[in-house]
Amino acid sequence: MFDPKDGRTVMLAFDHGYFQGPTTGLERVDQTILPLAPYADCLMLTRGIQRSVIPASTTKAIALRASGGTSMISPMEEWEGEIDGKKAKFGRPGFEPLSNESTALNIEEAIRLNASVLAVQVFIGSAYERQSLKNLTDLVDAASRYGIGVMGVTAVGRAMARTPQYFRLATRIMAELGANVVKCYYTDTEFDTVTSCCPVPIVIAGGKKLPEFDALKMCANAIAQGASGVDMGRNIFQSDAPVAMMQAVRGVVHEGLSAEQGFALYNDLKTKMA
Ligand code: R5P
Repeated sequence: MFDPKDGRTVMLAFDHGYFQGPTTGLERVDQTILPLAPYADCLMLTRGIQRSVIPASTTKAIALRASGGTSMISPMEEWEGEIDGKKAKFGRPGFEPLSNESTALNIEEAIRLNASVLAVQVFIGSAYERQSLKNLTDLVDAASRYGIGVMGVTAVGRAMARTPQYFRLATRIMAELGANVVKCYYTDTEFDTVTSCCPVPIVIAGGKKLPEFDALKMCANAIAQGASGVDMGRNIFQSDAPVAMMQAVRGVVHEGLSAEQGFALYNDLKTKMA
């Protein structure tokens, strides 16, 4: 999944449907994602989309979603009632409905689908922390027998702050427990300490859609501070010009373009494609 020339990767993430269904930009994966695939080093996807949409002839590395079992509408554990005549509502501390995942495929399926790496969500600090870490270690044990890697994906939720401290903790735990690669979010401060404390490569998720320049700036900053690449979805497939954005991100990650140069490339390609 890493380009041997520079040790970096541009992963295109479009596995969101595993808990979100047809989210914006992924209603028709065949129409929106296939034109982007040639510019990616690795496709991060579910087995359902790989089987039904991705041509078997693809030469791209495959990062296969290997955990799941919950959805955006999984029920909350909340108590609603009255205290001293006033309405009151409490959530169970640390409870994230999405965190109640199990592993979602077995190793034979991963081999059949030619996966290079299995992606597993890890919910440090949630009620199901232990279970998600067990998912990670089970997959590491199974995948390492066959030379397949495991990518630990740092999940963030309401109880889990997006701070450098949190990401240092989460990424280090996943690496110590056997993840070959970890994915986390970029932080505006101290991101260099997140990468320096983690003994395996870190790739950043894009997160919610940002203006194109801001997304490219985030990529450039992350690479400058030790990230080994990006695993980006919405900031590419929800862009006004996804193919142009994909190439601009590639320029930042692999060609050392600054955010300004990447944005100029994006605008240039967007104009030519109009
Ligand atoms: C979310 O859980 C999925 O694993 C996505 O692959 C991940 O969030 C990256 O996508 P985005 O860049 O849209 O945040």
